[in-house]
Amino acid sequence: MEAIDLLLSRRSCSVKAMVEPGPSESELEQILTAGIRVPDHGKLAPWRIQVVEKAGQEMLGELCASVAKQRDPSLGETEVELERLRPSRSPLLLIVTDRLERDHRIPVSEQVLSGGAVCQNLLMATHALGYVGQWLTQWPTTDDTIRAALGHPEGVKTIGWIHIGSTESAPEERRRASVVDIVSNWPPEP
Ligand SMILES: Cc1cc2nc3c(=O)[nH]c(=O)nc-3n(C[C@H](O)[C@H](O)[C@H](O)COP(=O)(O)O)c2cc1C
Repeated sequence: MEAIDLLLSRRSCSVKAMVEPGPSESELEQILTAGIRVPDHGKLAPWRIQVVEKAGQEMLGELCASVAKQRDPSLGETEVELERLRPSRSPLLLIVTDRLERDHRIPVSEQVLSGGAVCQNLLMATHALGYVGQWLTQWPTTDDTIRAALGHPEGVKTIGWIHIGSTESAPEERRRASVVDIVSNWPPEP
């Protein structure tokens, strides 16, 4: 597919509709390499990516289940089980976090935006290789116990959990903002 067609056809796939296989080792290498090839004012590389494969996803799932139960002791077995399965719903999980340099001449907001570009590039590379992806920021991405277990230093924020896999049914297109509503000329036509 032409690059422009890839850009015009990327669509998120619900993690609930993801199945095996995930990318091979060499495909993952390409996804990660494309992922970090982003605009980065000051060349700070203010982002990190953790690759969480099946064994890690299951460990993380155990943690999600126990933390969810601590947060809400009224959770039933089915809900706790859903939490246990949360990280392993896709064949592969990438956790993208920031590493902001707060006292730098490059504003923190620009460093954060660069991290967003990492997530988008990961999704585009995933799509280019024929896989599907979804960018999520659900409760475990901000939970302190989970953050600490993942080894995230104090103050580090999660930019996204990027789930990657295959799907049996291509996601339907969603309603999109239209160029005419978003884009204008300047100066405006008289
Ligand atoms: C920073 C960020 C966080 C997101 N977190 C969630 C989330 O937690 N749950 C969710 O259903 N969608 C979330 N989304 C939206 C999906 O990733 C996806 O963009 C959306 O379903 C629209 O699909 P599209 O990518 O095909 O436009 C998030 C998107 C962004 C940019």
